[in-house]
Amino acid sequence: MRDSWTPRSWRAFRAEQQPRYDDPGELEKALGKLASLPPLVTSWEIERLKSQLAEAAWGKRFLLQGGACAESFEGCRADVITNKLKILLQMSLVLTYGLKRQIIRVGRFAGQYAKPRSSDTETRDGVTLPSYRGELVNGIAFDQKSRRPDPWRLLRGYEHSALTLNFIRALVEGGFADLHHPEYWDLDFVAHATRAREYQQMVEKISDSLNFMETLAGIQAGQISRVDFFCSHEALVLPYEEAQTRQVPHKEGYFNLSTHFPWIGMRTADPGGAHVQYCRGIRNPLGIKIGPQMTRDWLMDLMEQLNPEREEGRITLIHRMGHLKVEKLLPPLVEAVIDSGHPVLWSCDPMHGNTETTSTGVKTRRFENILSELEMSFRIHHEMGSFLGGVHFELSGDNVTECIGGARGLKEVDLERAYESLVDPRLNYEQSLEMALNIARSLSLINGGG
Ligand code: PEP
Ligand code: CO
Repeated sequence: MRDSWTPRSWRAFRAEQQPRYDDPGELEKALGKLASLPPLVTSWEIERLKSQLAEAAWGKRFLLQGGACAESFEGCRADVITNKLKILLQMSLVLTYGLKRQIIRVGRFAGQYAKPRSSDTETRDGVTLPSYRGELVNGIAFDQKSRRPDPWRLLRGYEHSALTLNFIRALVEGGFADLHHPEYWDLDFVAHATRAREYQQMVEKISDSLNFMETLAGIQAGQISRVDFFCSHEALVLPYEEAQTRQVPHKEGYFNLSTHFPWIGMRTADPGGAHVQYCRGIRNPLGIKIGPQMTRDWLMDLMEQLNPEREEGRITLIHRMGHLKVEKLLPPLVEAVIDSGHPVLWSCDPMHGNTETTSTGVKTRRFENILSELEMSFRIHHEMGSFLGGVHFELSGDNVTECIGGARGLKEVDLERAYESLVDPRLNYEQSLEMALNIARSLSLINGGG
């Protein structure tokens, strides 16, 4: 029952993927402090995002969600944050051009500090320690002290989120939107792309449209409309989420005020589990990752639990099937949603179903497989009378070498050059921009072709 829900009711249910803290008193102290600190986001922002997501579900807008697999405290730096905003902004402009729709920009940032793991422990050379669960929980170094889940890290996670968000808000208010202009983009890679000519033309047209718009309005593009960025993270470590879940004056219900857009990961989407029971009661829009194991009944159960009132903008289903499986596994789920009449926004995460390990044991993903899952997904939705209204990437605004392929033709041997991710491999700056050019191209083809 919604009525009897409280931010702590999840505690009566089975909670997967939780750190095991060895000192409950210390944990309560850290949580008490966290609960006393001001929120990171506001309910107005959350509601604005929800109404924009509702519009994306019927094609008025398009969702671009992206960022690191896991943020690190070390990566809470001006250059890293600026570059991440820059790539998201540039991708969104390419998408606006190709889709003729406004883009909702959501970062996997300012709180993406916790990771689900396949095992609770890790063993190396006969030594077994708790698995690394992200900076919110423990440290990555393989020693007893680092791997001990430390409750005070919950506070450090909150603080790093606040620092990140503070800088993002300042950039957004300032002259950052200059980066709209392709003159400021690093486009050298385009010359190496198979579709170099086509991409060059797209970029020229984007530049022309901006100049035209600015001349017409007599002001700079950045001033015409404020560039919004929302933040998101996986709602994984439930005591953290609980401590930032609040009521606000003159509004019913509770909001998770640590982020605009929490999502439920694939490993914690059990309808009877604690994560779903927690998310049921908050008013934020929710993402749900759906992977190859998802069934029609399971999905419908989630819909009924999480959106019994069928509120628009509430649910974004983020499918991540993998390029080899999407064609078979996605259609029954799309059909189930159509039959049920549930309002959802569909988004595609083409990263998590396409992870592979090289012969030397490095986790990577191939540009062509990522793109292929995306293109198939757009087509499947289109053919079924559904609509793919968003994309979800793990990306970096820097020149990392974690994914194979793209215009520069990154190969396995290149991976060691700048592999920085603590967890999953991300598209780098050029690969991300090239991905956006590809999406814009295929979507203008789909739309143009009716
Ligand atoms: C992630 O988004 O980093 C993740 C772990 O995804 P999933 O839950 O889809 O595996
Ligand atoms: Co990941």
